[in-house]
Amino acid sequence: MKSFDVVVIGGGPGGYIAAIRAAQLGLAAACIDEAKAADGKPALGGTCTNVGCIPSKALLQSSENFEQAGHHFADHGVKVKGLELDLKVMLGRKDKVVKASNDGIAYLFRKNKVTFFHGRGSFGSSGSEILVTGNEKEVISAKNVVIATGSNPRALPGADFDEKMILSNAGALAIPEVPKRLGVIGAGVIGLEMGSVWRRLGSEVTILEALPAFLGAADEQIAKEASKIFLKQGLKMEFGVVIAKVVISKNAVSVQYKNSAGEAKTLECDRLIVSIGRVANTTGLNAEGIGLKLERGLIAVDENCRTNVPNVWAVGDVVRGPMLAHKAEEEGVAVAERIAGQKPHVNFNTIPWVIYTSPEIAWVGKTEQQLKTEGVEYQVGTFPFSANARARALGDTTGLVKFISNKTTDEILGVHIIGPMASELIAEAVVAMEFRGSAEDIGMICHAHPSLSEAMKDAALAVDKRALNI
Ligand code: FAD
Ligand code: NAI
Repeated sequence: MKSFDVVVIGGGPGGYIAAIRAAQLGLAAACIDEAKAADGKPALGGTCTNVGCIPSKALLQSSENFEQAGHHFADHGVKVKGLELDLKVMLGRKDKVVKASNDGIAYLFRKNKVTFFHGRGSFGSSGSEILVTGNEKEVISAKNVVIATGSNPRALPGADFDEKMILSNAGALAIPEVPKRLGVIGAGVIGLEMGSVWRRLGSEVTILEALPAFLGAADEQIAKEASKIFLKQGLKMEFGVVIAKVVISKNAVSVQYKNSAGEAKTLECDRLIVSIGRVANTTGLNAEGIGLKLERGLIAVDENCRTNVPNVWAVGDVVRGPMLAHKAEEEGVAVAERIAGQKPHVNFNTIPWVIYTSPEIAWVGKTEQQLKTEGVEYQVGTFPFSANARARALGDTTGLVKFISNKTTDEILGVHIIGPMASELIAEAVVAMEFRGSAEDIGMICHAHPSLSEAMKDAALAVDKRALNI
């Protein structure tokens, strides 16, 4: 029987990173993943690489290019005649981006001497015996097991995904022609990102959301700004709805629902994306066989990702906390280091969030509403991109940067951005918060001119009412 110091079940960002870090630390590491590409070969990288972060960002970029060429190049004096969409090429490019990432992870496994098993992993008679079934069949012994089996899309009761008419994230990334009318249930991260892709490519997009408000986890001011911008872009959204029934006919889907006034309504669409959250994936692990404790469907872990079974750990979407690739990675690294005897720490307060709409939305730390609830006294500085020279040169002046700092100490408590390249700008705030920096610290640092990052500096200075450019 083959034996390893660490066996990781699942090759997504939590799992593959845990295996690589374990191998770097001199441990004998293996990773089991069952995902298959169209040709039946391994498709390493999990949800993130295959049907999540990577393909969605490829399509967001391609569709943004199409929108820029169609609607904004003329502002720069660039005239485009005969603009055409070749969706087949666009989807093919996305698949190539995914394949390059799959291959990159396989290369990293070879480089770091991580043994890979292509198949399904499950527990045998104990937490240290792992059965591999499917493509490869093995029984392996493990001193430590890391469960990184990720999550699956949540289906709407009575409307299972067929990936033709009712689409999960996987189907939403591969619609073969632009639907004239696209319905989306759930105005969360996937609904907004995928709704934006298909709106830019020409669909009339309507999003139905159960809650009365929008982007509950974001700062309210940013969420309100986002709502205004998305409506102006032509994204239709209805809040406070209750979905009653989804009926598929030959070429259309009709969604029967009650609106916020309690009136019965029907949304007719050509395809429907259901993006109402994700559920942890523990199917087929034989969790019950080894007495592994679950809590509300998630694998129960302590702050160090330890489960109740000795030497069995769990990371990523299958445990508590935000379902984000970089959170899964941080936990994967921390678990590998803990197995190797180190004392790592994951700071949940400095995990950034990014929503890759246009404009992008990004934040780290606390929102104003959280600080009010916690009774923390704070001060705020904001700066609009319309007053930033680089944003004007780019022709992308929507949005703002908002700094929130402690009223007494000025320590940065949260930074919230809606605007161009928010996904990149937020990194400065994460660094500052990790070092427990103050808003004044950011205000005193030299930022290149002209750059979007100057909006960070000006917003930080605005906390002390001394922004220079407004
Ligand atoms: P996963 O990535 O889900 O990987 C789990 C892997 O385990 C899969 O390959 C699965 O096949 C395999 N597996 C499961 N059970 C077994 C078993 N028993 N045996 C063998 N293999 C098994 N996050 C971000 O941070 N940024 C983004 O931009 C972003 N965009 C997203 C866009 C979409 C459309 C979606 C759906 C998600 C997005 N996410 C994003 C979330 C991100 O994809 C997840 O948080 C991340 O993939 C979780 O990583 P993981 O390692 O926990 O699990
Ligand atoms: P989500 O949790 O972001 O949003 C789901 C939305 O659906 C919520 O607004 C919820 O109120 C609504 N909803 C739930 N049930 C409903 C119902 N019956 N009718 C109408 N609305 C309903 O979930 P989503 O968009 O599916 O994404 C899952 C997760 O994937 C995200 O939470 C995030 O962690 C991750 N993700 C991250 C991305 C990023 O980091 N950029 C991109 C995409 C996904």
